[in-house]
Amino acid sequence: MKRIGMLTSGGDCQALNAAMRGVVKCLVNSKEDVEIYGFIDGYRGLIYGNFRMLEGRDFSGILTKGGTILGSSRTPFKTIKDPDENGLDKIDAMKQNYYKLRLDCLVILGGNGTHKTANLLREEGLNIITLPKTIDNDLWGTDMTFGFQSAVNIATDAIDCIHTTAASHGRVFIVEVMGHKVGWLTLNAGMAGGADIILIPEIPYNIKKVVEKIKERNENGSRFTILAVAEGAISQADAKLSKKEYKEKMKNYKFPSVSYELAQQIQEMTGHEVRVTVPGHTQRGGSPCPYDRVFASRLGAEAGELILKGEYGFMVGYRNREVVKVPLEEVAGKLKVISPDASIVKEAKLMGISFGD
Ligand code: F6P
Repeated sequence: MKRIGMLTSGGDCQALNAAMRGVVKCLVNSKEDVEIYGFIDGYRGLIYGNFRMLEGRDFSGILTKGGTILGSSRTPFKTIKDPDENGLDKIDAMKQNYYKLRLDCLVILGGNGTHKTANLLREEGLNIITLPKTIDNDLWGTDMTFGFQSAVNIATDAIDCIHTTAASHGRVFIVEVMGHKVGWLTLNAGMAGGADIILIPEIPYNIKKVVEKIKERNENGSRFTILAVAEGAISQADAKLSKKEYKEKMKNYKFPSVSYELAQQIQEMTGHEVRVTVPGHTQRGGSPCPYDRVFASRLGAEAGELILKGEYGFMVGYRNREVVKVPLEEVAGKLKVISPDASIVKEAKLMGISFGD
């Protein structure tokens, strides 16, 4: 008999359900007796003992379903060691609930913040297995996270749609892409959507270079320009500021996001009409793409196998086209960023895409 707890934490993404289904299908298929406890809304459910007992059939028909059947929430790692508003020790509460239910292990699906807490629980003696979810693809230890490819599809669709209207009106268009502090989503959707300029946090931009590219396109007869801009894109000047100076500057920041600042600058410097489109949370929504369905199912099944073998303390990841188990202590607290020297950046530049540097 295996007693498994499961939770999805942090911002949701596509294929969370597909991954959980993969775990459960593997366990059920093994003929091992299993009891599954689904904690509601991430770590919050584990802290406050809010769970649902689930059966194999609860995981039927959810392969194509977006979101998470368990619900999710953000429980910041920064304050995980602080007592809650009623003085409850959150870590102790999570351990108590784990032991009360006599769990053999906890399967945690999440991104960066989630992995820090997962590793802390491992250090506290709980058996943990994690699965890498996030549209940002910024999790250390895995070449790919599930949700990412689905989000690339959606952001690409947005750029495709903007392309036709930008061409009709001869405008400059900025499509702001999610991704938090990294540019994986913007770079991939930008290339897939044929963006002319791609701005990502890893390569701070110089507005003069951005404008140069727009003017160069005009001189070559192109009436419009498409920019794919990461929500975390930063100018070279801002990137030189200390954390404290940057925080101070942002206190008086008058734009909703970097794209609007860029739009104003480009409009002033070129005289072109500039429009901003922000697909926002649509990038995290809807049904997972076929790639993510397969990918998340594979990772889930491998997680199920680890549970059957009693091997804990790992994230099931993907490296060099192989599904691998990565020790949690290697994953927690590290960000996977794009190297400015990465070959994909070089290839994009070879095709004339500007990174504003
Ligand atoms: O981490 C996924 C993500 O969608 C980021 O790309 C984005 O910065 C953030 O979550 C948005 O968070 P929230 O849903 O809490 O607004």
